[in-house]
Amino acid sequence: MKRSLPAALRLWFLSRRRALPWRVEDARGLRDPYRTWVSEIMLQQTRVEVVVPYFENFLQQFPNVKDLAAASEEQVLKAWSGLGYYRRARMLHAAAIVLTQDFAGQFPNHAAGLRALPGIGAYTSAAIASLAFGERIPVVDGNVKRVVARLMALPLAADDSKLERAARQQGEVWMSALGGQDLVAAGELNEALMELGATVCLPRNPTCLLCPVADQCLALEQGRTAELPFAKKVKKWVDLEMVFLVHRVGARVLLTKREGGWSPGMFEPPSLILDKQSAEQAAHTLQAQSATNHASQASPTPCSQELIAHGVVRHTITNHRIRAHVFALAGEPGTTGRAWLDPESVPLTGLARKVLQRTIV
Ligand code: ADE
Repeated sequence: MKRSLPAALRLWFLSRRRALPWRVEDARGLRDPYRTWVSEIMLQQTRVEVVVPYFENFLQQFPNVKDLAAASEEQVLKAWSGLGYYRRARMLHAAAIVLTQDFAGQFPNHAAGLRALPGIGAYTSAAIASLAFGERIPVVDGNVKRVVARLMALPLAADDSKLERAARQQGEVWMSALGGQDLVAAGELNEALMELGATVCLPRNPTCLLCPVADQCLALEQGRTAELPFAKKVKKWVDLEMVFLVHRVGARVLLTKREGGWSPGMFEPPSLILDKQSAEQAAHTLQAQSATNHASQASPTPCSQELIAHGVVRHTITNHRIRAHVFALAGEPGTTGRAWLDPESVPLTGLARKVLQRTIV
């Protein structure tokens, strides 16, 4: 008899799943909700290989939800530094505080309760509820949508909300067909679908020969795996040309906290977005600002402080494509009212890390 799709997927998952540090089960086969939560938030927009060392370091620093709540936002952002999408870290911290203050550090054991917490939406609440508490609720992420689009040969784009709805409905059908009271079934099925999308049912060149449900895949039967789901609309990029001034004094660097735009609350060396002026002109403007207490009293900088050009670094964040000209200045701090900080002690943006790296000679 042919196995049902959920049964075939779960069997495949149990033998082929990757060993990952958040995949630790208790005696009932359930996951720890805190580890599940942290890993699933980190895995949004970030690849597994990148997440693993951050996850391990994060758990070492904040072993449970109360430790996370007790940390400062700056400590949390610092542990997150380099993972990007820092709003995720702020929300994680905010939710840890709510859980500690209002729930005695215990997670709600169902998706609806989890969803009321900061930063936890449909995806994360379903992942935690199914993996850590056995709730029969489908998880729908990009991988699951691709798998469903191919299994059912749905002629939809990867980012079409109709595909999201179809994947959720199909997931609900599979969940209700699980039967029995088995606490691990829902989590296994959800993770099997995600794992299949991440390792076999790849966006390009899926390895259908290794797929445990190839015999049930309509896209494969119709020769349409390369085409489905259809590609997303092209992203509208904003190209920015920037100048950074790295002013070092010993181990310290002049750093400013970002207020708006991307990565608010994170630190970077002073910068300007270029408009009409040249990179050198902008670097001189930053140099003058660095050499005075108040920008309005900007005065020519002493010639002893030589500006050194360190070329260009490239960086993308959200929909911004940035070319950043890097200049460095060595010497005495020209100002008292600004933040001369050890870059190791504050959360830096990914762009700031690249910029600082460039000036290490
Ligand atoms: N991607 C995001 N979460 C995942 C998980 N739990 N298993 C496999 N891939 C994932």
